[in-house]
Parts: sequence; structure tokens; C-alpha cells
Amino acid sequence: MKNIIVVFGTRPEAIKLAPFILQAKSDRRFRTYVCSTGQHREMLKPLLNFFEITPDFDLDLMKPGQSLADISIGVMRGLHDILNAHKMDAVVVQGDTTSCFIASLIAFYHKVPVMHIEAGLRSGDIYSPYPEEFNRKATGLVASLHFSPTEPSRENLLREHYSDEDIYVTGNTGIDALFTVIKKLADSPELRASFDKTYSFLNPKKKFILVTVHRRESFGVPMEEVMKGLVALSQREDVELLIPLHMNPQVRASAEKIFGDHAQWIDKGTPAHMGQSRIWLCEPIDYVPFVYLMNRAHLIITDSGGVQEEAPSLGKPILVARKKTERPEAIAAGTSKLIPLEEKAFVDTASEVLDNPEIYRRMSQAKNPFGDGKACERILNIMAERL
Ligand code: UD1
Ligand code: UDP
Repeated sequence: MKNIIVVFGTRPEAIKLAPFILQAKSDRRFRTYVCSTGQHREMLKPLLNFFEITPDFDLDLMKPGQSLADISIGVMRGLHDILNAHKMDAVVVQGDTTSCFIASLIAFYHKVPVMHIEAGLRSGDIYSPYPEEFNRKATGLVASLHFSPTEPSRENLLREHYSDEDIYVTGNTGIDALFTVIKKLADSPELRASFDKTYSFLNPKKKFILVTVHRRESFGVPMEEVMKGLVALSQREDVELLIPLHMNPQVRASAEKIFGDHAQWIDKGTPAHMGQSRIWLCEPIDYVPFVYLMNRAHLIITDSGGVQEEAPSLGKPILVARKKTERPEAIAAGTSKLIPLEEKAFVDTASEVLDNPEIYRRMSQAKNPFGDGKACERILNIMAERL
């Protein structure tokens, strides 16, 4: 039996690692430990409850408005102590967050093999997304095995001269998680009915646009241009926007400044009517209702990594509010498109998708370039063979 420790800190890592942890825990080839760095304290809690995962170690390191250095120092100290006290045969990390990169670095210092899930994504610009492009490259440097979600991500690693025999194309574990939730929603009319009730304020006659924004490299002017674009878009009679706001204080500050009276918070009292406003704001939504809402959306606008992978599986057109994306597969599949971070061009691009039925139809094809829901099983089999 190999001792493995799975380390995560943020919402997307918890979502993408939950199916892996659950399968690893029931796999007799491994003794699986779970470490939450707590980089996202509040946003992790409902996910861990939903997937019924209790971390063996919780570094609980989130501080409001934390700097990249704060997170790094916390993960370094915490994981160093854990690896000193417990002998591990592998450290499993996912993606490109600071928790992921620093955990990999500490594993390397302890000479424990690093298993990198979602390896090989590249935008080609070290500042976009920031600091994630650096984090995933640096994690790759110390990883023993690289689990790439797609063939193009494997090719990125080959171009950087990683050894072919250490790279495996497995699909993205996020799709494993998504399929679990889709099945849960399909099997449970009660659950769907409860979400129908929660979101009954959405007007079924309007095109519902679901929006998320949170990227560090967009803070300030670019994010505020996007928000101004959203306000302009909301002036259309035929649309309605719901924006679950990321907890990052910088996102909140820009939202308050730009949305002002144009938007209404749904968490602060029952939304009985909207007046002139067609923008609803809310706290981050739990993963299952968020999947329900993606499924219900006419269009999704986001700068999220994970949502770029989920929307094509759900057959939802997606506009990516970023200068560059490391997920070109969705663009190649025709379901996703970059949207400029400048108010007027932003509105023009969104309006084109809303107004041109042919473009909308082409972008709504359900495609699944990111996986088939069996990534975790593949990764565990490879790890059992290689460790
Ligand atoms: C982090 C990741 C990013 C990922 C994103 C997913 C890094 C450097 N960034 O960015 O790659 O795309 O998570 O959402 O690893 N906060 C809370 N409660 C929470 C979570 C966040 O209050 O549960 C607030 C805190 O004030 C915190 C701030 O948000 O300081 C920023 O969180 P942080 O993890 O530093 O960065 P994110 O922008 O969330
Ligand atoms: N998500 C969620 N609730 C929300 C917004 C997003 O559950 O209010 C989910 C989404 O379905 C995806 C993940 O969170 O699985 C993406 O997280 P985020 O956008 O924070 O990070 P990224 O993927 O950009 O690193």
C-alpha cells in the first residue's frame, strides 16, 4: 500500500480533486491522506460537505486580502511539518494555484514524487493568467508524473522537453466531478424543484446570462471595463444577468463601484421585483446549484478556468473574458470565444452571439474536449503502476 497525500486549497481544486479523493480512498492500493491548505476557507466548506470529505490536515491559512507571499509561506510551513512527521510515497496536486505550486516545491525539497493533475496547460504569457501560468510551469518542473487533460496539453509538455513516458493524457478530473453532479440532478426531481424555487425570480421569457469574474491580472481597469460592458448589456430588454461574486475583496470593490444601483443583491432580501435593473448579484453559489444554473443559462460569460471546461459539456455558448486562454480546445470546438476587456467591444461581441442565431447555434453544440468522466480511474491505475 502506498501512502499518498492529496493537497488542495481553493474551490476549483476541491471540485476537481473530490472524485479523485473519493476513488483513491476506496482503492486498496493506496492509503490516502487529504490536506486542505484552507486557501479558500468559506468557499471550500460547502464542497467538502457535499462530497463528504474530511481533511486529515487543515492548515486553515486564509487571511482576508491575503498576498501571494502570505499563502506561499503558510503552505510551505504547514506541508513541511506534515512531510517531516509522515512518510509519504507521493504528493498529489492539481492545476496551477499557489497551494498547488508551493505544495509541489515542498514535496520536491522532501524528495517525495509529485503527481501533477491537469498538467501542461499553457497560455504562453507568464503574466496571463497571473500567477497561474508560472505556477503550472513551476509545478511541472518538479513533477514526476504529468496527467494532461488533453492531447494539446501533452504536446505543450513535449515542446518543453518533458519525457514522453512520464506524460499521460487522462481527461480532466473536473469532468468526472461534473458528470457526478449532472447525474445527481437528473436523478433527483426534488433537487431540481428546490433550485427552480430558489431561482424562481429569473424571468423565463428573458435570455439568462450567467457571469463570473475573478482573475488577478484583470483587477482594476480591465475588470471594470468588463463590468461596464455587463451594465450596458443589461440595458437590453431581452436579457437578465446573474453574477455570483467571487469573495476576493478586489472583485467586490470593483463590483460595488461599477454596478451600483444597476444591480440588486438576491441574498439581501427576497427579490420580488427589479425596477430598472436586470443584474442580480449574489454570494458564491454552491457547486450543485451552480451546475443547475449553467445548464439553465442561455449564455455564460466568465474568466474562470473550470467553467471554460464545463460549459462545452453542457452545450452552452461561452464568452471568455480574458486576453488569452490556456484552454484552446473549447475555442477549437467552436463553443467558446474570447471577449475583449473593453466596454464597447465587449458589448459588440456579446450582442453578436445574442442576435445572430447561426453563431449562437454553432456555439451551442454539446462538445466534450476535456474528458469522458473517467480521468480519476486512469490516474489511479497509472499511479499504482508507476509508484
Ligand atoms: C485563487 C487562485 C486562482 C484560482 C481561484 C479560484 C492563486 C494565486 N489564485 O484566486 O488560481 O483561479 O483561487 O477561485 O492561487 N476569500 C474569502 N473566502 C474564501 C475565498 C477567498 O474571503 O473562501 C477572499 C479573501 O479575502 C482572500 C481573497 O478572497 O484573501 C483572495 O483569495 P486567493 O485564494 O488569494 O485568490 P483568488 O483570487 O481566490
Ligand atoms: N463555481 C461554483 N460556484 C460559483 C462559481 C463557480 O461552484 O459561484 C464552480 C465552477 O462550476 C467551477 C469552479 O467553481 O467548477 C471554478 O472555480 P473558479 O472560477 O473560482 O476558479 P478557476 O477555475 O478559474 O481556477
